[in-house]
Amino acid sequence: MFRLVSLVVVCLAAAVAAASPHGWERQEAAGEPRADQCTGFDNSLRFDCYPEDDASEDKCKNRGCCWRPPDTSLDRVALNIPYCFYPQNYGGYKFLNISDSAFGKTAYLQRGTKSYIPNDINIIRIDAKFETQNRLHIYDPSNERWIPPLPEMPQVDTKASDPSYDFVLEESKIGFKVLRKDDSEVLFNTQDIGGLIYADQFIQMSTLLPTNYIYGLGEHRTTFPLSTKWQRFTTWNRDIAPSEYTNLYGTHPFYLAMETSGKSHGVLMFNSNAMDVLLQPTPALTYRTVGGIIDLYFFFGPTPADVVKQYTDLIGRPFLPPYWGLGFHLCRYGYKTLTETKAAMTRTQQAGIPLDTMWNDLDYMKDQNDFTYDTSNFAGLPDFVDQLHQNGMHYIPLIDPGISASEASGTYPPYDRGVELGVFVKDSAGKPFLGKVWNPQSTAFPDFTNPKALDYWKEMLTTMYKLFKFDGAWIDMNEPANFLDGSTTGCDKNTLNSPPYTPAVAGGALISRTLCMDAQQYMGKHYNVHNMYGFTETIVTTTVLAEIRQKRPFVISRSTFIGHGRYSGHWSGDISSSWSDMGWTISELLSMSIYGVSLMGADICGFNGGSTANLCQRWMELGAFYPFSRNHNTKDVNAQDPASFGTEVAESSRKALETRYTLLPYLYTLLWRAHAEGTTVQTYAIDTAFLWGSGLFIVPVLTEGTTDVTVYLPKAHWYNFYNGALLSTGGANTTLSAPLDTIPLLVRGGNILPMQTPSTTTTASRKNKFGLMVASDESGSASGSLYWDDGDSLGTYEQRICNLITFELQSSQLTGTPTHIGYTGESMVLGNITVLGVSSASSVTVNGASTSFTFDSSNKVSTLHITMLLTCVNSSMLTPPQENNGKRGETVIQKTDFESIERHHSQASLALKCTSF
Ligand SMILES: *[C@@H]1O[C@H](CO)[C@@H](O)[C@H](O)[C@H]1NC(C)=O
Ligand SMILES: *[C@@H]1O[C@H](CO)[C@@H](O)[C@H](O)[C@H]1NC(C)=O
Ligand SMILES: *[C@@H]1O[C@H](CO)[C@@H](O)[C@H](O)[C@H]1NC(C)=O
Ligand SMILES: *[C@@H]1O[C@H](CO)[C@@H](O)[C@H](O)[C@H]1NC(C)=O
Repeated sequence: MFRLVSLVVVCLAAAVAAASPHGWERQEAAGEPRADQCTGFDNSLRFDCYPEDDASEDKCKNRGCCWRPPDTSLDRVALNIPYCFYPQNYGGYKFLNISDSAFGKTAYLQRGTKSYIPNDINIIRIDAKFETQNRLHIYDPSNERWIPPLPEMPQVDTKASDPSYDFVLEESKIGFKVLRKDDSEVLFNTQDIGGLIYADQFIQMSTLLPTNYIYGLGEHRTTFPLSTKWQRFTTWNRDIAPSEYTNLYGTHPFYLAMETSGKSHGVLMFNSNAMDVLLQPTPALTYRTVGGIIDLYFFFGPTPADVVKQYTDLIGRPFLPPYWGLGFHLCRYGYKTLTETKAAMTRTQQAGIPLDTMWNDLDYMKDQNDFTYDTSNFAGLPDFVDQLHQNGMHYIPLIDPGISASEASGTYPPYDRGVELGVFVKDSAGKPFLGKVWNPQSTAFPDFTNPKALDYWKEMLTTMYKLFKFDGAWIDMNEPANFLDGSTTGCDKNTLNSPPYTPAVAGGALISRTLCMDAQQYMGKHYNVHNMYGFTETIVTTTVLAEIRQKRPFVISRSTFIGHGRYSGHWSGDISSSWSDMGWTISELLSMSIYGVSLMGADICGFNGGSTANLCQRWMELGAFYPFSRNHNTKDVNAQDPASFGTEVAESSRKALETRYTLLPYLYTLLWRAHAEGTTVQTYAIDTAFLWGSGLFIVPVLTEGTTDVTVYLPKAHWYNFYNGALLSTGGANTTLSAPLDTIPLLVRGGNILPMQTPSTTTTASRKNKFGLMVASDESGSASGSLYWDDGDSLGTYEQRICNLITFELQSSQLTGTPTHIGYTGESMVLGNITVLGVSSASSVTVNGASTSFTFDSSNKVSTLHITMLLTCVNSSMLTPPQENNGKRGETVIQKTDFESIERHHSQASLALKCTSF
């Protein structure tokens, strides 16, 4: 039996090799390993040699691998410990030569024995490019193989002069090592580990890792720190309701690793093909991809924030959304008419709940066709949108990529024009590829990698913009989703549609619920570009929206790829209305933040299934702190807009969203920093709570019927946001009171949060007075900043049409410095300063003159009411503050070039100085 199978394998391999373009000599199969190569293994050192489902002892040994049932078994885990594993010294490749190069190191490897996969690539080259002090790039440039094109990715051909890392090759050991120089920590070690295979449609490489604390490898539903207990993370963009252990909508083969020393590093596998990434307890990782090349980027931190910054240096910084996009959004699938849409909006507004943007799902379209609207059920949509604009609100429609090919010729220009321009994805015969989405017969798919797609999409969106003046785009179903496996006539039998190895994708085949892999796109076969479909649609949509509106684009896409955050935001798709799904949204949010996607949200109150009042109350409180805050529901279930559950839920929602709106200047400043400097908006601690920047800790209640929540607080002064009282000095688990209408919010000492009095839209709130919340740390210091611009124009930061004001509390003196003043379109008036952690206070001077203040001695909070221009610029350039509404203690400061407020504690003096720049 064994011999027979073996023969078949050799024959197959030989046949394929003969047909291969590389034309190398026939090689011998590896043969059964010696017994001593298979013993003395710790279970954790087994690297799976038979990832397919039908492993058997014979088939395993045929691959030259060891077969032994594991001695122990673990509790329920995603995968079994492999029975079939690579022997020690599995071989495969040998070094031909190693040399230094102008940019780092180069080595050539040659395959000795054949692998069990057809079309081994016989000679591979490894270039290690020392690109920057903290970025190392390792890849194989020798083969004309697929590499995903990412716009404006930096190309470096010189060697960094002082790299913080070492790259090690040794002739006798297959593979390489990457070390951090200063602590000699080995961060990546592939030397003689597992089975290195580099074949046309199967590339596999394993590495030892220095730590079990690994984050990333999305998009998946997982805990934020990933389990390394034999887990498989498959990336293949797919329309599927999120659950554990399956590929989801996006692909981000990037991980952040926290080492035991407290340092961290990151690794990107820059590859767009279907991929499994495996983690095992060793700790170790295996990449298994079905195309492209091994293309690794290392980022050496050492802090997690440094890693993300270095990562977005490469892939692009997150975009800065328009300010209105940070308001609350309301949507559902199943507002069957414009009247229903308006009713949901009206009851939200009547409850006093802030609301910036109304959305419509498929319902608004005529026959579910893009670029149309239903002129009977949605009669008056254009007027409605105009009305929203007059009220300082916005409107976003759903746009799906699939274009109906089911309409009579000449009746539906989006299809006819697409055919005319030749912009649809083509089938293997060169005709428009037809699948089926919402349309009765068939659907075509624009090929957004085709340069002409930009013109096509602009024409379509412009036509729709003439119908109604939408403000953004919600691009869904762009994995791309298809209700068929392949085309209306199936898919041809070939190695693209069914490759020699299929990663563990949902549906068991790459073509499952999407296009055929041999469908042709401008940039290549769908096999290679599938994972970039939504990403390329995002780039085109963002570009076109900016051209049409001449304002900052707001796009939310379901499908994502490496670099997505530079163009758009993301929401976590079709999650369920359940307490557990609500909990999962936090790790989804945190994971996206390390991929450089800052505008992230989840459907508040859940999408699939009906929500309950209790769930929706807590979820509205949590969702008020998603960077992208939208309540969205499916059809045919009860309504879940915040006012639909009665007064209590409506009131809690109003309270949470008013707090959000109060803090929007802080959130906007964080998003700007992410855009300008690559910092993350969320900071990761655990995945039941999260931070905005370093200053605001959001601790939601995630279980039903609970009115307190326990969380670990790192060492710091933690203040209750709502009353300013010092809650804890950290370093311990702390139980926070969380009445049903309240989400616990903590301010960390050392931070100054810019705020603004809320209104029911951001358009209105932007006109209100600012406030500062100054939370002193144990040494009485704090700092913060405020970024401001008109919130909607393109390139405000790039052209410096913006203001940046920094605040510093030190030695009892608060200083505001207008670091940059380039935006004078609106006056920025500071209305109050709240100082937390004040032991006592006796007098306040403002600009040398005594002024009044209030002091809450039980919470040790002092509040100062003032009216003062934050920008401190020559006041004749600004509209001076109009009002001094006579509130007790208000002081109008009208000095043009220098303004200061001084405030004395009974012991020490505190001064706010706004120095001119
Ligand atoms: C290394 O080997 C490759 C493949 O045979 C060859 O093309 C290359 O010139 C060699 N380089 C050096 C420095 O010997
Ligand atoms: C906090 O609580 C968690 C969960 O109960 C526990 O594992 C952890 O050790 C606690 N930490 C401290 C510092 O008490
Ligand atoms: C201080 O300013 C903030 C933000 O503008 C506002 O929400 C708050 O109501 C003000 N506080 C007082 C006591 O006036
Ligand atoms: C303020 O601006 C006005 C008009 O630009 C100018 O005439 C005046 O000199 C400026 N004052 C100061 C103090 O810079």
